[in-house]
Amino acid sequence: SAAEKGGYASFMLKEIADQPQAVADTLLGRVDGEGLLHLDEVRIPAAELREVDKVVIVACGTAFHAGMIAKYAIEHWTRLPCETELASEFRYRDPILDQRTLVVAISQSGETMDTLMALRHAREQGAKVLAICNTNGSTIPRESDAVLYTHAGPEVAVASTKAFLTQLVACYLVALYLGQVRGTKWGDEIRTVVRQLADVPREVDRVLETMEPVRALARSLAHHGTVLFVGRHVGYPVALEGALKLKELAYMHAEGFAAGELKHGPIALIEEGLPVVVIVPSPRGRSVLHDKIVSNIQEIRARGAHTIVVAEEGDEAVVPYADHLITVPATPTLLQPLVATVPLQVFACELATARGNEVDQPRNLAKSVTVE
Ligand code: G6P
Repeated sequence: SAAEKGGYASFMLKEIADQPQAVADTLLGRVDGEGLLHLDEVRIPAAELREVDKVVIVACGTAFHAGMIAKYAIEHWTRLPCETELASEFRYRDPILDQRTLVVAISQSGETMDTLMALRHAREQGAKVLAICNTNGSTIPRESDAVLYTHAGPEVAVASTKAFLTQLVACYLVALYLGQVRGTKWGDEIRTVVRQLADVPREVDRVLETMEPVRALARSLAHHGTVLFVGRHVGYPVALEGALKLKELAYMHAEGFAAGELKHGPIALIEEGLPVVVIVPSPRGRSVLHDKIVSNIQEIRARGAHTIVVAEEGDEAVVPYADHLITVPATPTLLQPLVATVPLQVFACELATARGNEVDQPRNLAKSVTVE
C-alpha cells in the first residue's frame, strides 16, 4: 500500500532513501568514539579468530558484490588471504578448507539455496562459518557458527539496495574487527576508519540530496541499448553492481569491467555515443589508482564514448573528460563503495521507470532464490 511505501512511488525508492538510517542502525552499538569495535555478539572467541589463516566469502547476486569489496578490505586490514566466490560455483568445487578457515556467507534473506549449500559444504570440511544476514532466525544464520546481522529492516523491492549498503558495513566491521583482534600494523588506521564510519550516514544523505541531475541523465538515456560500467580496485565491484541494477530493473544490456581489462577486449565495444559509467577512486591516498583511471577515461572518450564519471568532490583532474560528472563525498578509498553505489541505484531505478518498467517486481526475478 501507499502507506507502507512511506509516500514513495515504489518500495525501491523508499529503500534507497532509507539507506542513511540502515547504515546508522547497522553501526549502532558496534563502534565507539575511540575507534574500537565491539562485536562480542559474533560468538567466535578472539583466540579462535587469531588462529584463522584464510578467509573465504560466498554469496550470490548483489551480496556477492559486497563480498568482492570485502576481499580488498580483509586483505588490507588483516593481511589474511581472502577469496570471494559465487556460492553456486563454490558448492560444486573441492575447495581447500580446514578448521583455520573462516567462511563468511553473505545473504540478505538468509534463504538463498546456493549460499546455504555452500556453507554446509564448508562446515563439512571443518571450516567455521560466519553469516552476514538481514533476516533474523533465517536458515543461513541458524546453520552458521556465528552471525553478524545487518539492520537494514525488511527489504521488499527485489533489487537489493539498503541491504547491500549494510552488507558492506558488516563486511568492513568484520575486516576491521579481525584486524583489531589479531593486531596488525594497521592499528592506527583501523581506529581512524572505525571513527570515520560514523560519518557515512551523513555522507549517503548528501549523495541522496544531489540526485536530480542523475535522474535527468537516466531519463535522457532511456532509449539506449547498452551501458557499460568500469572501475578499478573496489570500484570494480561497484561497476558490476551498477550493471546488475540496470539489468535487473531496466532490462538493458549492461556490463561491468575492470578498467585494466579494457584493452583486452571491452574497448572494442566503444562506439560513438555509448554511455560508459566510470567509478573514480579518491585522488588522495593511493593516487596511482586515480591516475590509471584518468587515462582510462581519456582512452574511452577518445573513441567516442559518452562518459559518466562518478568521482570525489573536488577532483578537478576528471572534469575535462567527464561528459557528465556525479560527485560523491570524500571517503577513504576502501569505503568509497558506500557512497559510489548510491547514484547507480538511483540511475537504474529512474531509467527503469522511464522505460515503463515496474521497479519493485522486475520480470523473471525473485527476491529470494530458494531453488537451484
Ligand atoms: C536474488 C535477489 C538479489 C539478491 C540475491 C541474493 O537474486 O534478486 O537481489 O542479491 O538473490 O540474495 P540473498 O538473500 O542471499 O542476499
